[in-house]
Amino acid sequence: MNRLANKVALITGAGRGIGAAIALAFAREGAAVVLAELDIETAQRTARDIEVACRTSGVPGANGVSATSDGSGPAASGAKVLAVQTDVTQSASVQHAVREAENAFGAVDVLVNNAGINVFCDPLTMTDDDWRRCFAVDLDGVWNGCRAVLPGMVERGAGSIVNIASTHAFKIIPGCFPYPVAKHGVIGLTRALGIEYAPRNVRVNAIAPGYIETQLTHDWWNGQADPAAARQATLDLQPMKRIGRPEEVAMTAVFLASDEAPFINASCITVDGGRSALYHD
Ligand SMILES: NC(=O)c1ccc[n+]([C@@H]2O[C@H](COP(=O)([O-])OP(=O)(O)OC[C@H]3O[C@@H](n4cnc5c(N)ncnc54)[C@H](O)[C@@H]3O)[C@@H](O)[C@H]2O)c1
Repeated sequence: MNRLANKVALITGAGRGIGAAIALAFAREGAAVVLAELDIETAQRTARDIEVACRTSGVPGANGVSATSDGSGPAASGAKVLAVQTDVTQSASVQHAVREAENAFGAVDVLVNNAGINVFCDPLTMTDDDWRRCFAVDLDGVWNGCRAVLPGMVERGAGSIVNIASTHAFKIIPGCFPYPVAKHGVIGLTRALGIEYAPRNVRVNAIAPGYIETQLTHDWWNGQADPAAARQATLDLQPMKRIGRPEEVAMTAVFLASDEAPFINASCITVDGGRSALYHD
């Protein structure tokens, strides 16, 4: 508890899944959290869940100030939470979210670029629209986030950015194009910006999750001819015979965002139960 005390964190795509788990974990560690999410209803629901969870666990909250879920008033828990409708594909929308965060809680210390979508196609039958919407969210969205917070972080000489990549950034599954191309780009962006701003004490790192149990994964299974068989096939591929939980990615995000990782920069931590180290299926 309190590993992120006095920090302000903005998490994109925090309405559900890995982003929601990161927002909750950050709040439990004392951060003020801004849920920058396309689907505002899920973000508001997650904000309420965080307030309840922090009230239940007695988290004091950053600076011990009362919480807000929509900027409209204090809540009973110690958490500081704000939900902001945000489309990461639009630079102006992300900049608006950062301004809202600053107005509510102060300068953004931590950015988690988590929002992402699966676009899995055969390369030669993929449409131009498939290519564009994949890159718009999965790569442009990450850059839009970085560009919105970096000037302030550079000026203050402190900051941590965590980009949620994927093991698709290192391994290719046929028929999943162009998602891995965008995720390779996320690693490139992480390394480039990490080096660029290291002299100003701004760290930029990535997390590469393997299979994690979220709606995204369920949607993929449900899109297969036999969803139950697809799920079982996924589990059979895992060294630990299970897939990961969003909380297990969130733990790594807490570490990278915190002052416990001051010399980790331009790096990527894989969270996949060892799957990407396995040579044979
Ligand atoms: N679940 C996995 O197995 C897995 C594995 C590796 C990497 N990832 C990555 O983790 C991240 C989160 O994945 P998840 O499984 O939690 O997905 P999810 O679909 O459950 O959640 C993604 C969230 O992002 C939001 N979002 C989508 N487009 C957005 C936009 N333009 N602007 C703002 N928000 C937007 C969605 O509304 C949703 O709330 C993604 O970047 C994904 O590529 C997931």
